[in-house]
Amino acid sequence: MKVLLATDKPFAAVAVDQIKSIIDGNDLEFVKLEKYTEKQQLLDAVKDVNAIIIRSDIIDKVVIEAAKVLKIVVRAGAGYDNVDLQAATENNVVVMNTPGQNSNAVAELAFGMMIYMARKKFDGSSGTELKDKRLGLHAFGNVSKNMARIAHCFGMEILAFDPFLTSDQIAEYGVKAVNSVEELYSSSDYISLHIPANAQTKKSINQELLQNLPKGATIVNTARKEVIDEDGLLELMAVREDIRYVSDIAPDRIADFNEKFASRVFFSPKKMGAQTSEANINAGLAAARQIARFFKEGDTTFKVN
Ligand code: 3PG
Repeated sequence: MKVLLATDKPFAAVAVDQIKSIIDGNDLEFVKLEKYTEKQQLLDAVKDVNAIIIRSDIIDKVVIEAAKVLKIVVRAGAGYDNVDLQAATENNVVVMNTPGQNSNAVAELAFGMMIYMARKKFDGSSGTELKDKRLGLHAFGNVSKNMARIAHCFGMEILAFDPFLTSDQIAEYGVKAVNSVEELYSSSDYISLHIPANAQTKKSINQELLQNLPKGATIVNTARKEVIDEDGLLELMAVREDIRYVSDIAPDRIADFNEKFASRVFFSPKKMGAQTSEANINAGLAAARQIARFFKEGDTTFKVN
């Protein structure tokens, strides 16, 4: 059985070595494709493999149909919006993710970006502190739980909205659940997005919702660029000169954001929330182990299709 590690944005070398050891140790064959520039390279690489480990790499219908003997795709990470689940299911391909494995890395990056904006992008002028500010967590999954842990140490007041959890489940983490998404946005100095990108959430962070933000609020997006209605945010930032936007996923209209609001926006050059050795090891090894268990025992824990 052949396992392909296909990562356009490579894992740290130490993680790749350990992934290979797990694959080898389970009598599977390890192959890798990193930093590819053309989709054709991926199509060629998947032809004869039985399993694929990916990150944000696009596994669409064309890729799935080119992978004639594919049995399983594991997204080493949380969000699987980059995989065509329907095409996978139609071709009897199991899709899994590795929930929670890179959450701390994403949460730490969100705090790094919050401080960077609070301190005026380190330009030497007087900034603000996180202490006593309100942090609003939009959805309360694995990343938000890490956000809450860190925010407690900063002395922030923490609020969350998650329609899939009860107030008590959120309160267990010392976080106050609010009753509506509008209430969350109107009560947050920092609003941090932790929703997946799907048909319901795409462009859902729109002008109508964002205009609830209090004066001086910062939007922190380590989720997906697709959840933001960029036209609406650009319009809002033109009239609300106090609003700031920071993200590790460059928006489609990055040129407009940078040109119009240079001091109030920041976008990292590459998506990098989960880009730490620790997160690469956690997510990559979990993916390799899940594949080994799938082939050995038929284990389908973490299947998402
Ligand atoms: C995830 O969904 O796990 C994160 O967005 C990380 O994505 P990445 O593996 O492309 O860095």
